[in-house]
Amino acid sequence: MNKKIIVAICGASGAVYGLRLLKALLARPVHVHLSISAAGRKVMRHETAYEGNAFKTFLDAYGCQCHSTARLDIHDPDDLFAPPASGSFRHDGMVIAPCSMKTLGAIASGLAEGLIGRAADVCLKEKRPLILLTRESPLSAVHLENMGRAAAAGATIMPPCPGFYFRPETIEDLVDHTVARVLDHLHIEHDLIKQWGVDDIL
Ligand SMILES: Cc1cc2nc3c(=O)[nH]c(=O)nc-3n(C[C@H](O)[C@H](O)[C@H](O)COP(=O)(O)O)c2cc1C
Repeated sequence: MNKKIIVAICGASGAVYGLRLLKALLARPVHVHLSISAAGRKVMRHETAYEGNAFKTFLDAYGCQCHSTARLDIHDPDDLFAPPASGSFRHDGMVIAPCSMKTLGAIASGLAEGLIGRAADVCLKEKRPLILLTRESPLSAVHLENMGRAAAAGATIMPPCPGFYFRPETIEDLVDHTVARVLDHLHIEHDLIKQWGVDDIL
């Protein structure tokens, strides 16, 4: 059985994290349910070559090479009838990459608004993995408190903070380091980065 992973892309800076994660997931036998917030699309248009055209076409141009059994379902962020909105939909985890402070706040306060907020809320109540690539700097006391509340409810707070011990040379190396850690938490095998103490790193 292919793993089922929910991916959401919100309007924080760092659309590339969501894109790189999609590329990595779809290269494997994974069924991805994707939702992009309205702000997420706008920021993606600003930060990448995405021009607002069909997203799957853009992914092809981005170099996404799908595994023969991979599948991508894209859901409107307002579609509360999509599978990820229900606790009866069994899946292997949800990643919000990047996650804005707005969406973090909504999750921390249980607003369950829209498909992304509802799917995240469902992960917490059903005790399924919820990984938030929160992106903002500096962080206010409100942001920090919201991260603490979401973590206490079961979310994994994973701000994109790449390590430098593996000597990155490109932006892709930095992004891959964060995406690799996400895949680790989803228990998905990958070779995006070398393992400290296992592979020859230096
Ligand atoms: C270019 C750009 C970059 C932004 N970067 C961030 C960011 O890094 N973190 C953040 O929390 N919000 C950021 N925002 C603001 C969010 O897009 C805004 O709060 C939005 O309402 C988030 O909505 P969403 O969570 O539904 O996607 C940015 C906005 C723009 C236009």
